[in-house]
Amino acid sequence: MTTDTTTPATDAVQAAPAARQVQPPEDAYAAELEFLAAYDTGPRPPAWHLTPRAVVTFVMGSNGEALKLPDGSASLTISQKFVGERSLVERCVVTLAGERGLLLVGEPGTAKSMLSELLAAAVCGTSGLTVQGTAGTTEDQLKYGWNYALLLAQGPSRDALVPSPVLTAMSRGAVARVEEVTRCLPEVQDALVSLLSERRIAVPELAGGPDGQVHAAPGFTLIATANLRDRGVSEMSAALKRRFNFETIGPIADLDAETALVRSQARGSVERAGAAFAVDDAVLEALVTAFRDLRTGRSAEGWEVERPSTVMSTAEAVSVASALGLASAYFPGDRDVLALLPGHLLGVVRKDDPTDAARLLGYWDAAVRRRAEQGSATWRTLWDLRHVLEH
Ligand SMILES: Nc1ncnc2c1ncn2[C@@H]1O[C@H](COP(=O)(O)OP(=O)(O)OP(=O)(O)O)[C@@H](O)[C@H]1O
Ligand SMILES: [Mg+2]
Repeated sequence: MTTDTTTPATDAVQAAPAARQVQPPEDAYAAELEFLAAYDTGPRPPAWHLTPRAVVTFVMGSNGEALKLPDGSASLTISQKFVGERSLVERCVVTLAGERGLLLVGEPGTAKSMLSELLAAAVCGTSGLTVQGTAGTTEDQLKYGWNYALLLAQGPSRDALVPSPVLTAMSRGAVARVEEVTRCLPEVQDALVSLLSERRIAVPELAGGPDGQVHAAPGFTLIATANLRDRGVSEMSAALKRRFNFETIGPIADLDAETALVRSQARGSVERAGAAFAVDDAVLEALVTAFRDLRTGRSAEGWEVERPSTVMSTAEAVSVASALGLASAYFPGDRDVLALLPGHLLGVVRKDDPTDAARLLGYWDAAVRRRAEQGSATWRTLWDLRHVLEH
């Protein structure tokens, strides 16, 4: 299109791209990525945008320290994004540097997807070469499809081929992501076996020509995630399992670290909604404590707690904290946000099994009551709200 045919309306659209609900990490942290590329100029694996050490720093943060460019022209503090062990992230990065597949497994809501996006963005500059695994995922979605209009008009050609995100990653030497790989049918999963071992995809329709095979460029690798609550990782074929290094991601070990994460993420989401975040630390701590007690089956004091069958994930704790933040911003003064907590907890607890409501009541009658009796004002209020859980 020439400039004369461009209408002013198109210009306006190009000048101001629509706001997005979620920024991918390569955009949200573009300044950090650019800085880290200049900060650490050491050797990097083929096609990598950052050194392996800089990738770890991007994910784990610089510990509050402002890093300085070698020429002293700029400095930047890298934010911590993933809360967990640095050694786990280092192992993930080493796996990718060795061009092996990486499989992140764990309970729902443990930041598997987030970590895979962060790693992909840091290594190759995009987290967008993604296939979402579902029961309906087909082999084409992992390999390639066709633009049927072109196919009918011209016959099979490279132009008519529609590459999957995985094929695009292969030809660019980038990182492909396959979300929830175990939800794909086993025969579809197995398409990944040949791709990960031979590092090429045959296109029989173009056989004999230069495009009959698409080869993976150096740097190509794949990060898959799998949820332990879905169809099991154990059901993956042995051949596919051998092509991945497995890393298990667990819940956040430390109460203070989890509370800080819940606070900062909930604050971020309430502020994005245009409101100010005003939930007391005491409320957040009670919320995270209840999640952890129910998740682990043991209270912070060491009392036994009957666990509901559902996972009490950090991701859900963040959603509840955000809901409390929004409620207090939009309905100020209606009532104390603490009063909303039992209802939200009940919603989370009984989503898999309605009988889990009784387990939450059991938690109230044991741990919550004991804390109230020990004189904590927050837990006293929560104990007084026990009736919310009885229906
Ligand atoms: N260890 C953690 N570090 C940082 N954020 C975390 C952590 N654990 C949970 N979160 C929060 O959980 C959110 C959801 O994580 P994500 O969607 O990546 O989880 P997931 O493991 O892929 O879950 P699912 O199995 O449901 O797909 C993150 O955006 C973040 O707010
Ligand atoms: Mg996920």
